Amino acid sequence: MKRRPIVAIDGPAGAGKTTVSQRVAQELGYVRLDTGALYRCVALASARRGIDWSDDSGVTKVAEDLAKRRAIRFQALGDGNQKVLVDAEDVSVQIRDQAMGQGASRVSAIPGVRSALLDMQRVQGSEGGVVLEGRDIGTVVFPDAEAKFFLTASPVVRAERRYQELVDRGQSPELEDIIREVKERDTRDSQRPVAPLKQADDAELVDSSNLDIEEVVTHIVERVRAIEAELGV
Ligand code: DC
Repeated sequence: MKRRPIVAIDGPAGAGKTTVSQRVAQELGYVRLDTGALYRCVALASARRGIDWSDDSGVTKVAEDLAKRRAIRFQALGDGNQKVLVDAEDVSVQIRDQAMGQGASRVSAIPGVRSALLDMQRVQGSEGGVVLEGRDIGTVVFPDAEAKFFLTASPVVRAERRYQELVDRGQSPELEDIIREVKERDTRDSQRPVAPLKQADDAELVDSSNLDIEEVVTHIVERVRAIEAELGV
């Protein structure tokens, strides 16, 4: 049976992947899978069990345990958002804070963690009609995905977006600190030996520095519809 495309949206932190993948999935009627949330859940579960993010084998055991028990679940909310549950506890808010972002970046460099989470992503995406957002979807998780995009923006633009997000939440961050963190995370995510952040050869580069979200969404939706037509689905 013909299946709808797998849409891979990779790129660095702050490029707008989350908003774009939510909107694209909504417009196409596809399921969205936020793969960064899986790494954030591993960081949170490790911290709660008192396991340091630098303890490769300890963190790998946590990831394997979560994967084996299918303890991480996503629950779609009507507005395109989703709840993230770990052992039925709603951790959607906790996994979003800055510390868990750093933790996720650390644990995602551990090979055992990546392989523990790989099957989970493949099982959920294999039937198509899915938008996966991450770092290595087009290169490692689904190298044969029919629609691949590498969404990026300059580090300063990405840091400014993150700054605004924190200000909107009532926090008073320092822009300089955020720029430094964005650059640190880029370096760590793109220089790790396993599944580094890298544009797939056949992915389309979309630079959102000077585009608004609507333009990016419209472009991606049009591309996917053209691919659907080619596939006859
Ligand atoms: O997209 P995000 O900010 O929620 O991702 C958190 C971290 O997880 C990020 O620093 C890199 C890592 N990650 C990854 O290595 N591979 C993915 N497919 C998704 C995220």
